[in-house]
Amino acid sequence: MKQISREARAKNRVIGFVPTMGALHPGHFSLIRAAQTDCSPVVVSIFVNPKQFGPSEDFQKYPRSFEADRAALENLGVDYLFAPTPEEMYPPGFRTVVAVAGLSDKLEGRSRPGHFHGVTTVVLKLFEIVQPGFAYFGRKDAQQARVIRQMALDLNLDTQIAVRPILREPDGLALSSRNVYLQPDDRRAATALHRSLDAVRQEIAAGQRDVVRLLAVLRRVLDAEPAIALDYAEIVDAETLEPVVSLRGSCLILLAAKLGKTRLIDNALVEQDGDSFNVTI
Ligand code: PAJ
Repeated sequence: MKQISREARAKNRVIGFVPTMGALHPGHFSLIRAAQTDCSPVVVSIFVNPKQFGPSEDFQKYPRSFEADRAALENLGVDYLFAPTPEEMYPPGFRTVVAVAGLSDKLEGRSRPGHFHGVTTVVLKLFEIVQPGFAYFGRKDAQQARVIRQMALDLNLDTQIAVRPILREPDGLALSSRNVYLQPDDRRAATALHRSLDAVRQEIAAGQRDVVRLLAVLRRVLDAEPAIALDYAEIVDAETLEPVVSLRGSCLILLAAKLGKTRLIDNALVEQDGDSFNVTI
């Protein structure tokens, strides 16, 4: 892979890169299409990264569908699929940890200690191997995108980080490789995540700016679904990821919840435009 990247760069080609853990769905495909619009060649990686799973998380049973993924990538006209083994990425004696302090410790990082260290360690390794001019991430994982953008800035990486919209099912559930775990009842209840964000959007459109009140509206929708065990719901500054008291500038409404054994996350982006706020779900 390094040799392919070196040769492409020697020809002044700009490599577009979409890192994934496989079990590909249209959310991943939207990132690939964006990469193909901007770059050539396009590289997609599939690597279920053991370092970003906690000891009691779902690494062993994370959905894997390599042959279907490979065929889908071929259909899309992806130039290269990079699928290293855990032994290649982490040979015996591997020691380095890449950590973005602060941003990695809150929200997802608080619920999943060490998760983002695993993410930044593998993403930096992948960037070093693939040497992309642009790398594409989904706002589905808004905190991850924020952490990676900070890493790229702090470490003077030559990779521009592009963050793309969330793709959803027709009923609003954000596409996720983990949705296949959902039992039918939980799958129905899961729409409350999106509905709670939509209720907040309506409240913001009606003029509400107070975060305590907005979160109360969000919780009311989620509480109506007994199948949902809320982990956190916060409204934070999009840059610092620190909670805000009232809406200002760019904010993220971030939530995580468990349905049965399945942990799902979702979010909405709130952007100030003069006196009004645009909410993108
Ligand atoms: P994975 O969950 O496979 O996601 C790969 C990329 O697809 C991420 O950037 C994610 O935000 C994006 N994505 C997932 N669901 C999406 C949706 N519904 N709409 C738009 N984009 C979506 O995120 C990871 O893998 C890993 O942490 C990784 C970055 C590959 C490092 O191991």
